[in-house]
Amino acid sequence: MLKIKEKLNNYREKCLLRTRQVITRRHQGEIEIAGKTCVNFASNDYLGLAEHPRVKQAASLGISHYGFGSGSSPLVSGFYQPQQDLEKNWAEFLNREAALFFNSGYLANLGVLSTLASRDSLVISDKHCHASLLDGIQLSRAKHDRYPHQNLAKLEKNAGGDHEICPSCDRKRF
Ligand SMILES: Cc1ncc(COP(=O)(O)O)c(C=O)c1O
Repeated sequence: MLKIKEKLNNYREKCLLRTRQVITRRHQGEIEIAGKTCVNFASNDYLGLAEHPRVKQAASLGISHYGFGSGSSPLVSGFYQPQQDLEKNWAEFLNREAALFFNSGYLANLGVLSTLASRDSLVISDKHCHASLLDGIQLSRAKHDRYPHQNLAKLEKNAGGDHEICPSCDRKRF
């Protein structure tokens, strides 16, 4: 097994080493990094709701009422009334039996896939699907087939059929 320093050097040599940027200001789609103002195209806050006055006010009100942080996982120590109200409202809005909120997209994909799929399942995904989906599929232990990015013709032709098995990853090759 490679030592951590060697691994980091390998990444650095291949220009694959990722670092986190410190953001010192955020305002209406712009962020400041090292004194430079940049337009943030990488955020998921597409609608700018993070800065909406009502969202900020609700967050402040929540903190003043309940304090900061959940304290523990909801299964261990319960969850809060506003969270239950939010889930109920969303279920109603989407005309569904229930809704469950996760703290991030990554956790949602991990939780949902590892729950819905199991060792007996086959999951077929786009080759470029998000890493969180791959992790969720792996956690579920389901069989996993991938088709070339957005190539629905290939998906229709090959899904469920006979395939060559990749000797290194044990996946079917399209
Ligand atoms: C399709 C998809 N799934 C999951 C995620 C991960 O979401 P998060 O950053 O909230 O963990 C992203 C993030 O952009 C995404 O685009």
